[in-house]
Amino acid sequence: MTTCKVGFTQKSILSYPGAMSVFLVAEIGKKQPKSDSLIRTVVKELSALGDFKGKKDESLILYPGNLKTGKSFACRRVLLVGIGEINKAGTQDQLLEIFRKAGGTISQSAKKVKADELLLVLPEFVDDARKKFAASMVEGILLGNYRFRSYKKKDDRKNKYKGLKTITIHGKGGGLRRAVNRARIGAEAAISARDMANEPANHWTPEHFAKFGRDLARNSVLVCRVIGKNQIEKLGMGGIIAVNQGSAIEPRVVILEHRPKNYRTTVLLVGKGITFDSGGVSLKPAAGMEDMKYDMCGGAAVISTMQAVADNKPGVRVVAIVPTTDNMSGSSAVKPGDVITHYNGVTSEVINTDAEGRLILADALAYGIEKYSPDCVIDLATLTGAVIIGLGHHRSGLMSNNDVLADALSAAGEATGEKVWRLPLDQEYSEQLDSEVADVKNIGGRAAGSITAGAYLKKFVGDTPWAHLDIAGTAWEFTKKSYIPKGPSGIGVRLLLDFIARCSTLKFVERKKDK
Ligand code: BES
Ligand code: MN
Ligand code: ZN
Repeated sequence: MTTCKVGFTQKSILSYPGAMSVFLVAEIGKKQPKSDSLIRTVVKELSALGDFKGKKDESLILYPGNLKTGKSFACRRVLLVGIGEINKAGTQDQLLEIFRKAGGTISQSAKKVKADELLLVLPEFVDDARKKFAASMVEGILLGNYRFRSYKKKDDRKNKYKGLKTITIHGKGGGLRRAVNRARIGAEAAISARDMANEPANHWTPEHFAKFGRDLARNSVLVCRVIGKNQIEKLGMGGIIAVNQGSAIEPRVVILEHRPKNYRTTVLLVGKGITFDSGGVSLKPAAGMEDMKYDMCGGAAVISTMQAVADNKPGVRVVAIVPTTDNMSGSSAVKPGDVITHYNGVTSEVINTDAEGRLILADALAYGIEKYSPDCVIDLATLTGAVIIGLGHHRSGLMSNNDVLADALSAAGEATGEKVWRLPLDQEYSEQLDSEVADVKNIGGRAAGSITAGAYLKKFVGDTPWAHLDIAGTAWEFTKKSYIPKGPSGIGVRLLLDFIARCSTLKFVERKKDK
């Protein structure tokens, strides 16, 4: 992980001696673009020339020695970043996304000139919710600054640039500091999820999830418990055992818990941690199979969320469970037609060994709900290729048995730029999973593939308010954005953190009034 420091200053902007000072410029119809007074003359000139209008994603690097600003900047470069017509942006969530993207553009521009430090000037012309905009921008800068170079030759000359090392924000106030700090914590957690996902399957195994959990607990208020293979067998987690039995690498169930004093709400997070999905005996085609090292992105998201939870210390109890194994086709592998027994006693006919995510999640959901009696459960999984057909790479699929929970997650999605879209979960879909020989079968045919996967999980949550996020289309190859580099997106982390921040006021179940 590349670490980037975020600091604050109240000294004059002109005196900043670093590599780059950054200003935002907004469009207002055909009028002069809006900008800070320090750069107004030059912006006027650039817009008259037609070279820079302040359009969204537009950026321009200037060299202050030649600027006709009448001001003398001590920095080496001035970066202008356009944010478009913010007056027409619509909702505040959409506006926050504009600032997040501007943050990403700032990182990309810094990369072009190999700048490793910058001064971020918060625009004079936005005064409402300045803290939030600043926070979104910092989030965008940090996320856009991400790179994964662990396996590149260290002395590779072309790749000497290590990204931004210091961001200095021009501004003051405890509120600003707190908002920016929270954004930094969230972005760093998303980056941690990207790092896990980028690791190849020979370097990220179930034991690596366990080690991450233990290390995190050692250095924080969290408690970690790792369930090993023997215990998984003894507990009767037949889904995890079935998926693991064709592999030479042992499975784990990694549990992290944040338990504040006097908590009233427990949130359970479950993440699919398939460190490589070959399909098993129902083998996947070779083309693109390397991407199946990303099949642990749900697990990465929930365990990285806990990294941020450890810092934010919310008033709600949060438990994260990652069932983790690879899905291989060794000679002892589970075979199509085999019948397995899940943690809660439900028997399942494994028609297709490539529908393995639901098998490990079913055990983890049933176990977590029994053990922690949560007020709500959210699982994240790269569960079905079908969700990519349905929603593409722009929204994750949401399925839920509870409208309050579903609405809260939808709102968190809009607020974080990690949008979701709800799919139905009627009883008819569950019937597609009826088996001739067992309580259920693990696939429901081609029709509504994402929903029948959700319907499988639904059988293991009982009445507990539950939501399932299918992130197969968004965990990598997510919408092209300045702050989302190629490869794993770290999706889910910021969404879950936003949800956790707002969930203590939610009433998932109508409490019966005392008479
Ligand atoms: N991990 C895959 C889903 C997936 C596919 C994620 C492509 C991202 C990109 C999952 O385990 C899987 O193989 N699902 C099958 C289910 C089918 C056998 C019912 C699928 O989607 O084809
Ligand atoms: Mn699979
Ligand atoms: Zn899978």
